[in-house]
Amino acid sequence: MKLERGSGTVGHGSAPAIFGGADTPSASCVDTVDFEPAFPPVRRQMPNAAAIVYSLYKNPIALLTRDHYTKDLVIDRMFGLRALSLNDPGYIRQVFITNRHKYGIDPIRKLLLKRSFSRGLAAVEGDEWHTLRRLSAVQFSSRKLARYAVDIAAICDRFCLRQPDRQSVSLASLATGLALENGMRCLFSKDRDGSFEPMSETNSNYLEHVLAIDVADILQAPAELPRLMKRRVGRILRRHGAIVETLYRQRQERIRSGAGAPDDLLTGICRHFISNTGYGDGRRAALDNIGTMLGASYDTTGKVIAWALYLLAMTPDALSAVRDEVDAGRHDHVSPQQWPSVLPHVLATIRETLRLYPAIPGMARHALEGDRLGPHPVRKGDYLVASTWLLQRSDRHWNEGSRFRIGRFLPGGEADGKADCYMPFGVGPRMCIGRAFAELESVIVLARLVREFDFRYASAEPPQPVWRGTLRSNNGIPVIMTRRGRH
Ligand code: HEM
Repeated sequence: MKLERGSGTVGHGSAPAIFGGADTPSASCVDTVDFEPAFPPVRRQMPNAAAIVYSLYKNPIALLTRDHYTKDLVIDRMFGLRALSLNDPGYIRQVFITNRHKYGIDPIRKLLLKRSFSRGLAAVEGDEWHTLRRLSAVQFSSRKLARYAVDIAAICDRFCLRQPDRQSVSLASLATGLALENGMRCLFSKDRDGSFEPMSETNSNYLEHVLAIDVADILQAPAELPRLMKRRVGRILRRHGAIVETLYRQRQERIRSGAGAPDDLLTGICRHFISNTGYGDGRRAALDNIGTMLGASYDTTGKVIAWALYLLAMTPDALSAVRDEVDAGRHDHVSPQQWPSVLPHVLATIRETLRLYPAIPGMARHALEGDRLGPHPVRKGDYLVASTWLLQRSDRHWNEGSRFRIGRFLPGGEADGKADCYMPFGVGPRMCIGRAFAELESVIVLARLVREFDFRYASAEPPQPVWRGTLRSNNGIPVIMTRRGRH
């Protein structure tokens, strides 16, 4: 990794289109030519407080200094708060697993979620969290995943048929729209029926509006006070809230009428909160949990699929390995749930994409009492951020960590035995509940899209990764998408 200034090794002005190769490459020759996506600028030192506030809202990655990339732990101070940025697998394990009782959800996240999903799974703690986690986990069992996989493959087929033969399109909007259809169908048994307008850039960045940090959040001003930096958020949250409300109301009516409700996440949540009044306002809690799952289900996987297609478009060798695999069609003879096992290059592409572009680039916690991380004391009230972005790109943990090499995740590749340095879905008991679903969905979607279409990156400027809710490109990922000929 070149910390001074990153640059892609494949020129963006002459981005190659994706074309399938003739011979199936072996795992070992996939990375003969790899690709280094443009690396965001690295600071020499932290800027002043005003610039920090602005960057926390716009893109916290822009605050990272050389120290953050090269040291195990860096302490930053602002408005009397201490934030410890962790870039060491041992420290992260201690905070998220061994000493987790000493840490809680940080007050800023609680404040952000108070305006949207304060009673949702991602926001609650203690007994309420345990109950909700058990309730939701049932919906991601292997049996359920088998059914979802069949649905997702069918949705992808219909999606591919609907597309024109050639179009200029934003990958982020395209992939997020498809992920929304998948989430709606699998978790809420709902086909797209007009309740969602076509995916706009605004909708496709939904979590940005929930999670972007305003100066008032840093100062922990009450959630009821306006957030000047987030003026448009109220409207977007209300629109999303109305969709969630409709899902809830229609399903409640169906359950109450005895008409036979589908066995899905939506019914699970509704039934739980009809029968269980132990948690205060059951209706509010149900809505918050539906909203949490809906938002988390599409704004994350959509981003990963978009980044994966971009990286493949820029790396012809990796692309031809993936293409040869899907064109060979072994997966056509097994159930879609088995695709990750029979499409190792597709799976490796998704995992390598999640290494370089983790949809959630960091996880914060709050020290409830003192602790010690190696020689560093942790004080009660400290913020701790486990930075997936730093850990997964670090040259200390990965060989030339900023390069895109799918071979790392093929059997016998570099990622074997590196579980501690790879945590795109988090770590410990609060690890992502949708991770199996997300990985399966991403593999199925990528396999289908790569088989049907060529993607040519259509800008002279590389995408600029920014962390705003999820990790997205600030300047979009524009591509020319063309249907492939016979293959
Ligand atoms: C590639 C896609 C995804 C990525 C990278 C991702 C990443 C993460 C991470 C890092 C966490 C842990 C946050 C923390 O510890 O502070 C998390 C939690 C969570 N994720 Fe995901 N996620 C993805 C997809 C999904 C999907 C598809 C769903 C639901 C269908 C989902 C629902 C959730 C929920 C509800 C939590 C909170 C869990 C808890 O606190 O117990 N995620 N996710």
